[in-house]
Amino acid sequence: MIIFGGSKSAELGWEVAKTTKSTLGKTQTKKFPDNETYLRLMTNVEGKECAVIQSVTSNDDLVELLMMIDALKDHKATQVHAVCPYLAYMRQDKRFKEGEALTAKTVLKLIEELADSVATINCHFLGDPGQATYNNIGFTNLDAIPYLVEHLRGKISDPVVVAPDKGGLTYAKRAAELLDCEFNHIEKKRISGTEVTMKTKGLDVKKKDAIILDDIISTGGTILEASKIIRRSGAKTVNVGCVHGLFLNGTEMFAGSVDRLISTNTLINPATKVSVAGAISEHLK
Ligand code: R5P
Repeated sequence: MIIFGGSKSAELGWEVAKTTKSTLGKTQTKKFPDNETYLRLMTNVEGKECAVIQSVTSNDDLVELLMMIDALKDHKATQVHAVCPYLAYMRQDKRFKEGEALTAKTVLKLIEELADSVATINCHFLGDPGQATYNNIGFTNLDAIPYLVEHLRGKISDPVVVAPDKGGLTYAKRAAELLDCEFNHIEKKRISGTEVTMKTKGLDVKKKDAIILDDIISTGGTILEASKIIRRSGAKTVNVGCVHGLFLNGTEMFAGSVDRLISTNTLINPATKVSVAGAISEHLK
């Protein structure tokens, strides 16, 4: 197999090629003055099975991914597998208001149309890993939670896992099963029109090493609030892990509230400590 890493996942592409003992494909990319993307394949792919690894955080990343898949097909690759470790636009998988665009469908459909298979990691609208079908689009949802857990194992002695909201409970549950510890989510309770209380639902974090897990840290607001609550509840240490670290406001905002902050390399940021190359390699095998 020939592995191509897009500009958002070049290092990960290299790592997966090494792990799977595959050839690392070469491309040349540049921007035209009007910001259009230029892409040229520099590796002969005729008669070969290929994979493209490219996280998508912007429209440009998506266009590069689509161009790469199509170019590989044009140059007679037998099969092209798309792996998008982080795939943007997955937060709009439902129409919350009439007339809204279903961005998850649009983006997945575009990739599926060109590639022979599609995979992503901890897709925002799915709780469980494995094969998924959404709007008749089949794709694989890989799981980075075990890799985050393995990184934390041994660094903490008395863990308890907390999800910042009910939506993150499946991640917390999987991590707690691996660590053989308790888990739950933070519960918001409205006391009055202006007053809201937040507490860890039925979970005592006192003197424990709390692990707060989320799929995405975007602005950081959710995790910062959750960390403060856990700290106030008497946790010994506050450890935060996320799969996709967008960190739009940087990572410095967590200083003082968090003892340990880790993310995977689906996106590169100052907290990137855990590689998902193993998950992608297993999938491609
Ligand atoms: C929400 O459903 C997600 O799992 C994350 O909790 C959310 O995207 C985090 O956003 P932010 O970092 O902006 O609070």
